[in-house]
Amino acid sequence: MTIKKTWWKEAIGYQIYPASFKDSNHDGLGDLNGICEKLEYLKDLGIDFIWITPIYASPNVDNGYDISNYQEISEIFGTMADFDLLLAQAHAKGIKVIMDLVINHTSDQHRWFIESRKSKENYYRDYYIWEDGRVDGPPNNWTSIFGGSAWELDQETNQYYLHVFAKEQPDLNWENPKVQHELFTMIQWWLDKGIDGFRVDAISHIKKLPFSNNIVDNPLEAYTNAPGIDVYLKALRDVVKKEDILTVGKANGVSAHDALEWVGEEGYFNMLFEFEHISLWSTGEEQGIDVLKLKRALTNWQETLNQKGWNALYMENHDIPRSVSTFGSDQVVFWRSSAKALALTFMLLQGTPFIYQGQEIGMTNMPFHSIHEINAVDTKNFYRNMVNTGVTPERALDLVRKSARDNARTPMQWDSSKYAGFSTHKPWLVVNPNKSYINVQDELADPDSILNFYKEIIRLRKAHETLIYGSYRLFLKDHPQLFAYQRKLGNDRFVIIVNLSCDFATVDLPSNIKFEEWELILNNLDDGPLQQHTLFVPYEARVYRKKTA
Ligand code: NOJ
Repeated sequence: MTIKKTWWKEAIGYQIYPASFKDSNHDGLGDLNGICEKLEYLKDLGIDFIWITPIYASPNVDNGYDISNYQEISEIFGTMADFDLLLAQAHAKGIKVIMDLVINHTSDQHRWFIESRKSKENYYRDYYIWEDGRVDGPPNNWTSIFGGSAWELDQETNQYYLHVFAKEQPDLNWENPKVQHELFTMIQWWLDKGIDGFRVDAISHIKKLPFSNNIVDNPLEAYTNAPGIDVYLKALRDVVKKEDILTVGKANGVSAHDALEWVGEEGYFNMLFEFEHISLWSTGEEQGIDVLKLKRALTNWQETLNQKGWNALYMENHDIPRSVSTFGSDQVVFWRSSAKALALTFMLLQGTPFIYQGQEIGMTNMPFHSIHEINAVDTKNFYRNMVNTGVTPERALDLVRKSARDNARTPMQWDSSKYAGFSTHKPWLVVNPNKSYINVQDELADPDSILNFYKEIIRLRKAHETLIYGSYRLFLKDHPQLFAYQRKLGNDRFVIIVNLSCDFATVDLPSNIKFEEWELILNNLDDGPLQQHTLFVPYEARVYRKKTA
């Protein structure tokens, strides 16, 4: 069976976190015109579409994920005219534009919520989820993903409203057909503008369990992939899933098996951001990753969706620390090779690769010195809760430093100047001091840079359909250091072998594999040839192609 070909399967995506990408108006915050300035850079990198995290009107409690007007651009990023210009300029360069769609919740400053909280009789009351409390507090024991109860008491009507995220992000009531109608009309409005797709935020949370369920083990259970969600998702699918439109759902709590219903021909989206491999990120004291678990997680998704769906491939986003720091190594000796090894590991799997801004130059975690340098609402909550329960501020900072989302949100490092070429004004978030050697300008000029390696991988993927549509097969399943897999289409075969550890690794090829028949296509370190018994140095990564007879 052959896989149906579409543009979004062949494309390379790039995630832009606009506040930290490029500041064009010198206020220390990135903006839409800043993105326009860098389209040529993205084109040169080989990017086919950008996903921009929310740029809508917002009080910015959760950096744009708290929307107060879906059809307005936040003044910190520009105007609707700036957006139209960006869309036109991106399209003129052959770059498509994917918007973030945040429809599990709004801001508490959205007109609907301002009305909703006014009285129980208000027309907008049922746009959100309101409940009476119990004698001793909230309606049940559900907790928010950002810490604390998921219910907030509103004095005005003495009822609680539900918020899966911050209390300033009340959850929309999808049970109400009027809510669905409003959201779907808004979605159509953006599609009519000519955008090319949506990354759909927090979509596995739109259905909740009955409120009589007190949660015992997993707090997410109350509102994640709850039975009956399919009804809402089908309604959404009929609006967003159109020929040529890319849809990617952020589906926390959806297993590979469940995903078969979510993606594929009849599915709700084209692809999903799965959470299985990302949950292996070591945010504790230790460095590195359990390679066996990583292979198991990624292989599970590759095999389960094979021929039936499609994968979104990613190693980073704005919610998780930098991959090279948590998954590879940011020590100078291994930084370059491990960033390249990670790139090869994920970019040539079957699926659509998403690169997160700065990943292509190997940006690392930030050595935060104080909680005041951190902006993310969840991190500040966790820190405060720890300090309130007696943890020393130093220890609390140590605990949040490695897991803070702001590690990935520091300004993009364009050059080595004071504010990394991101702005001429002091940026909203601290600049990583390693801009002195990790920056676009230097890496463009260095043929051996991480940036140029990304370009090579992208060129390679685009030149061979096998690396896009070919089947996936894991080799060396039980090897604790090497991730080795094959991509095959007809007789064309590639093998990718990556040492994901900071130790030497050896491999004995099975006797039916004749190393003379394989040609080295791409590697990150100039080390020995492939032999029946081969040594891989730390973070060495190679791509081979079977020679044609
Ligand atoms: C997921 C987004 O990626 C994250 O940044 C945000 O805080 C939550 N959804 C809430 O919208």
